[in-house]
Amino acid sequence: MTVAHAVEQLEVGELRAAHTLFATAIGRPPADDAAWAASSRLGSPDRVLGVHAGGALVATATSFASELAVPGGSVLPMAAVTRVAVRADHTRRGLLTALMRAQLDDVAARGEAVASLRASEARIYGRFGYGVATRGRSVRVRADPTLFRPGAPLVGTVRLLQRDEIVPVLRDVHAGIALRRPGGISRTDGWWAATTTRRVEVDREYVLAAVHTGPDGDDGFAVARPGDASGPEHSLDVTDLHAADVGATAALWRFLLGVDLVESVQARLRPLDEPLELLLADPRACAVTGNEDETWLRLVDVPEALAARDYGAADPVLIAVHDGFLEENSGVYRIAGGAAERVGPLGGPVRPELECTVDALAMAYLGDRRPSELVASGWWTAPEPAAVPRADAAFATAGTPWCGTYF
Ligand SMILES: CC(C)(COP(=O)(O)OP(=O)(O)OC[C@H]1O[C@@H](n2cnc3c(N)ncnc32)[C@H](O)[C@@H]1OP(=O)(O)O)[C@@H](O)C(=O)NCCC(=O)NCCS
Repeated sequence: MTVAHAVEQLEVGELRAAHTLFATAIGRPPADDAAWAASSRLGSPDRVLGVHAGGALVATATSFASELAVPGGSVLPMAAVTRVAVRADHTRRGLLTALMRAQLDDVAARGEAVASLRASEARIYGRFGYGVATRGRSVRVRADPTLFRPGAPLVGTVRLLQRDEIVPVLRDVHAGIALRRPGGISRTDGWWAATTTRRVEVDREYVLAAVHTGPDGDDGFAVARPGDASGPEHSLDVTDLHAADVGATAALWRFLLGVDLVESVQARLRPLDEPLELLLADPRACAVTGNEDETWLRLVDVPEALAARDYGAADPVLIAVHDGFLEENSGVYRIAGGAAERVGPLGGPVRPELECTVDALAMAYLGDRRPSELVASGWWTAPEPAAVPRADAAFATAGTPWCGTYF
């Protein structure tokens, strides 16, 4: 039986209960007062949604305003979706579906062309139109700075930051470089408060934070903390590392790999094209230990999102986009002359050459996947196979998209 679930914007007095519901659903203890004071700053109070049953809060989802860099350098307003949870005794009754519908309507009404999230499980969000648009790899690097090739870039200096410098310096460097790469997002003050500030000032974890200064000023930073103490090695876990270029990347990894007593440095969700193996004399010192989805992207306003990015030189291509959740996005789109526009409804006189659902469009949107691999694997279909190389050329991007911000 399908039951209609009433989704409401939560009152301020319920926000902590919503956070506790989320923490419990992902197997964490509720935040104490200090942690809540920091964590409560992540979302906007007027963007926390909930569903009640029997007088209790049983489901919630939050979002906050951010921005997403798209191929070509434009930046789109983005809803960062987080803290999604349904109480364990109310799952699989459609509560998440109701929340997602209400949230996407809210995001669209706010004029945010895209929404993005990080998924606890890969099988939850495709049905709501989210597709994997950036990925990251996990690496474990044997710690020894002499492992760098003699010709590897050696520019600038690395300086360790004092506790009170960490957030202001990192915030400025991140703001200066993160949106240069497709997939990059802006970090709000609330994000810094709920993550780095909390770790440094509230939880008072041991944190190693360093900034790289290159020829044009500060252009990268790394944050690391001790790895699992019960493990066989003294290791560092990198929790945040952004660099403007390969020189800054090399310098920061050189620094981390040279910290005394450290035997290995590990990091999750690093860019797929981070050139560690090219920098090391022994490329096998870098073990790739995982490869995960990072950005789950939802094109909320497909016409606006498609128009916002650049396209490579290609003859025109016609793509039918199917959106079962936000029907107004469905239609046939034409990409030609570096621009994209909707040219007709589905099933109308304009015959599409390629077809995809909106989640599969998101997989190509930032350049993570080529249309040809999506056609070959059945994510897209090609009524006109000759259009596939044209679509590849149109969607091609210079680099690999990556975000590097967890929320
Ligand atoms: C994931 C979660 C939010 C799903 O909520 P829910 O209310 O059970 O979802 P719905 O009932 O609306 O499910 C909608 C559909 O998605 C499917 N689905 C939901 N969660 C799923 C999962 N984890 N794996 C596979 N399918 C899932 C349902 O089976 C249903 O499919 P159907 O339409 O074919 O019947 C909930 O299980 C939860 O809170 N989990 C723990 C916390 C968590 O992982 N939060 C997400 C953080 S990113």
